[in-house]
Amino acid sequence: MMSLDDLKRAVARAAIEYVPEDCIVGVGTGSTANFFIDELAGIKHKIRGAVASSETSAKRLQGHGIEVVSLNEAGTLPVYVDGADEITRHLHMIKGGGGALTREKIVAAASKKFICVCDASKLVDVLGKFPLPIEVIPMARSYVARQLVALGGQPELRMGFTTDNGNVILDVHGLQIMNPVELESTLDHIAGVVTNGLFARRGADVLLLGTTEGIKTMVA
Ligand code: 5RP
Repeated sequence: MMSLDDLKRAVARAAIEYVPEDCIVGVGTGSTANFFIDELAGIKHKIRGAVASSETSAKRLQGHGIEVVSLNEAGTLPVYVDGADEITRHLHMIKGGGGALTREKIVAAASKKFICVCDASKLVDVLGKFPLPIEVIPMARSYVARQLVALGGQPELRMGFTTDNGNVILDVHGLQIMNPVELESTLDHIAGVVTNGLFARRGADVLLLGTTEGIKTMVA
C-alpha cells in the first residue's frame, strides 16, 4: 500500500524530467516541494542553481549544496515546480497552505512553465473546500476581513504566523469558487491584500498527479 509520502516522492522524481540542463530552476514550498528539492540534489551538478519561494525552501536547497539565486539576478526561469492545496482539471489552484503564496506567485509568474506536483487527494471539481489563504498587510486585517465576509467567506486569522514578507494570513472558509479567475482579480483589488492563494489567471501548465495506479499527467 502506497502512502501519501510515496505518492509525493514519485511525482517529485517525475518532475526532474522537466528540468533542463544548465538552468536555474524555480522551487516551491511545502512537503511535496521538499521531496522535489531532495530529488534535485541528485542532479545538482547539472543545474546552475535555484530560486526559492520561501526562506524554508532556500535553507533546504542550501543544505543540499544547491546555490540559491535571487530572482532579480536569475531573470526568467524555464521552469517552476511546486505543490498545491487543491487543483482542478483546468489546472487552477489554491495555494498558500504553507503561507508562502506571495513569493510562490512571483516565482511562478517569472517562469515559462509551472509544473504542479500533487498526490491524488488534491484534485477537486470545485475549489474552496480548502480555506483560501490571503496574505494581508497587518494594519488592514480587520478591513480586509469585513470585505471577505461581504463576499460570502468566513475569514480566520492564522494565529502565530507571520509570512516571510512580515504580513499576516487570513484563511477564508466557506467559499465555493465557481469562477476562480474572476475571484482572483476581485480579491487582488481589496486594499491591503498583498496576494490571494488563487492561482487561476496563471495556473499550472502541467500537473503530475500521484495516484496508486501511477503518475497521471495533465496539461493545460
Ligand atoms: C505553500 C503551498 C504548498 O504548495 C501547498 O500548501 C501544498 O503543500 P504540500 O505539498 O505540503 O501539501 O502553497 O504555501
